[in-house]
Amino acid sequence: MPARSPRSADWTDERLHGPRHDFLLRSEGSIGRTQPKINRYSAAILDDLEKSKALIGNPMAAYLYPKGLFAIPAEITNEKVDQLIAETKKNFAEHIHIEPDMAKAFEDADIVIEAMTEDPAAKAELFKKMQPYLPEKTILLTNSSTLLPSVFAEATGRPDKFCALHFANTVWRQNTAEVMGHAGTSPEVFQKTVEFAREINMVPLELHKEQPGYILNSMLVPFLTSTGYLLVNEVSDAETIDKTWKLGTGTPLGPFQIYDIVGLDTAYAIISMNPEAQKEGTPLNKFVQILKDKIEKGEKGTNFGKGFYDYK
Ligand SMILES: NC(=O)c1ccc[n+]([C@@H]2O[C@H](COP(=O)([O-])OP(=O)(O)OC[C@H]3O[C@@H](n4cnc5c(N)ncnc54)[C@H](O)[C@@H]3O)[C@@H](O)[C@H]2O)c1
Repeated sequence: MPARSPRSADWTDERLHGPRHDFLLRSEGSIGRTQPKINRYSAAILDDLEKSKALIGNPMAAYLYPKGLFAIPAEITNEKVDQLIAETKKNFAEHIHIEPDMAKAFEDADIVIEAMTEDPAAKAELFKKMQPYLPEKTILLTNSSTLLPSVFAEATGRPDKFCALHFANTVWRQNTAEVMGHAGTSPEVFQKTVEFAREINMVPLELHKEQPGYILNSMLVPFLTSTGYLLVNEVSDAETIDKTWKLGTGTPLGPFQIYDIVGLDTAYAIISMNPEAQKEGTPLNKFVQILKDKIEKGEKGTNFGKGFYDYK
């Protein structure tokens, strides 16, 4: 997404179906699928803002507020929340544009963030395709959860201006942004990325070296995988496993609720990479089958109304 200069989508049928359309990022069909996603996020953010009024005066509010939306939680009033709601509506209406023409989307962009499906070959192809359309000054970032920036550095054609900026899911609540360079990332670009994260109200978390899964997923993936073992070995059911974790640690979410938030398709893509998941008959293989069956039924998590839990 370009960091500045929002533009409207004014591509035409002729350009789409003409002889040369490699300047296009995505098809018309995928654009149609994107708007409902944006609407879902907008509704969730506005809902969280409205609910945050109930936290005014609560001594734990600084931890409970959707932290990515409030610069200084202690100063929040009903009027300020209403003002934020109005600003958020305006921002969604005026500053988010779906633009499939890369030349237009990237024009004059300071920062471009790649956040496509976690498919290494497709990402590499995309980075190569982007090269001629990126202005000289542009910093290119990947939001990949599992792939190292060094894997794509060459394909980007700008290794010194490329690193990873990894957001958490529900970023307006969990406002972390892990910043991870590769050996060829320029220190200046790394620092600018850290500053950019801070400017957009994230807490930048700097990694000093490449680490698959960054800091958070290096802890979270083994944790979530171990809960899969408990389920397929029929030690207990998802609800009891979640209850155990929440009561035992005092945290608000259990592992299967986290699966639903992350999205079962993303979890499936990550866990399937584990060699054990690829061996027929192993517990992890059985668990990815459970994920696959749910994905095929459309039960892909909170965004789809159903995952391990029903949200309808
Ligand atoms: N889901 C999460 O919680 C989460 C959190 C942090 C980072 N990420 C990372 O963000 C990225 C996207 O994750 P997601 O869960 O939104 O995945 P997703 O599968 O929902 O894909 C996101 C978008 O990628 C687009 N896309 C697919 N193929 C494309 C192509 N060839 N060219 C251009 N666009 C294409 C899709 O249209 C879709 O809108 C991944 O790298 C993932 O690791 C995900």
